[in-house]
Amino acid sequence: MVESIAVLGAGIMGAGIARVLGRAGHDVRVFDVRADAAARAAESAGGSPCDSVEAAVDGATIVLEAAPERLELKRALLAEVEAANREAIIASNTSSIDVAALAAGMRDPSRLVIAHFFNPADTVPLVEVVPGPATPQATVDRMVALLAEAGKAPVALAEQVEGFIANRLQAALYREAMHLVERGVATPEQVDAVVTAGLGPRWALAGPFEVMDLGGLDVWTSVTDGIFPTLSGASAAPAMLRERAASGELGAKSGQGFFAHDADAPVRFAARLAALLEARVQLDATDPALEGRGSAGEGSPT
Ligand SMILES: NC(=O)c1ccc[n+]([C@@H]2O[C@H](COP(=O)([O-])OP(=O)(O)OC[C@H]3O[C@@H](n4cnc5c(N)ncnc54)[C@H](O)[C@@H]3O)[C@@H](O)[C@H]2O)c1
Repeated sequence: MVESIAVLGAGIMGAGIARVLGRAGHDVRVFDVRADAAARAAESAGGSPCDSVEAAVDGATIVLEAAPERLELKRALLAEVEAANREAIIASNTSSIDVAALAAGMRDPSRLVIAHFFNPADTVPLVEVVPGPATPQATVDRMVALLAEAGKAPVALAEQVEGFIANRLQAALYREAMHLVERGVATPEQVDAVVTAGLGPRWALAGPFEVMDLGGLDVWTSVTDGIFPTLSGASAAPAMLRERAASGELGAKSGQGFFAHDADAPVRFAARLAALLEARVQLDATDPALEGRGSAGEGSPT
């Protein structure tokens, strides 16, 4: 079914989201406070740029909000959407804003759902779909179906949790990675090599539960008993992260973070990631055991 989709905010994420939905054959309209950003994103998505929120959401069945991560800004934007459109599902791409706080400012909070894409949005398959306090299951199901039909791998959470799933898993790993470097056990280069040469390739094919199954649950019982008590329990950003960020070493976007980066680094990374994911699709196609396996979004939490 062709949906009429408004994408609000055409920055890093909105432009990619517009492309995903445009390529899937939907009618995409794009609004951004910067007309040039809206025009570029609309062109790359085969959609149309709009010069107001009202024009973008008029008659839309789905609204995708990808504006900056500021609660008051998003609340004001959603109020504008609600004033101009009474029907559409409103999906926010927020990474960290509390869904309840966002919903609390709405006239009809049952319209709100989170569709959390990953950068680059048109390359990384995962989209986390998260209900707000008043979101009906039918809305979650509709977003999951829309995203799966557009070629994404949606995973629907049963309820909101800080950081959803992916950022919680990343944060747990990054906490320990920085702890190991701060203790002097290894350098950032060495920790990254452990991931890219070992853990990462396995994780491209099997998640933590399948990796535990493959290794043996008896083994993993001993490993977790032995290591859990020794892991970092830090409850704030470690100094090596905080101090770099405070001094303007922001990573690829400033040219220097833990490592030095040139301006093309994000583009090259996106291209290599796309090639890797394509190789995985080819590999999956050759494994008869994977045939008929349900989509990532179909599991029900236990
Ligand atoms: N960058 C990421 O890796 C990432 C990943 C997942 C989710 N997100 C989330 O996606 C959202 C957008 O992030 P981004 O990285 O694309 O930011 P960005 O700064 O690249 O883009 C935001 C865009 O919104 C526009 N904008 C500002 N005010 C607006 C308004 N009132 N109405 C419409 N457009 C407006 C800006 O001009 C800009 O083009 C945030 O909620 C962020 O948390 C980001």
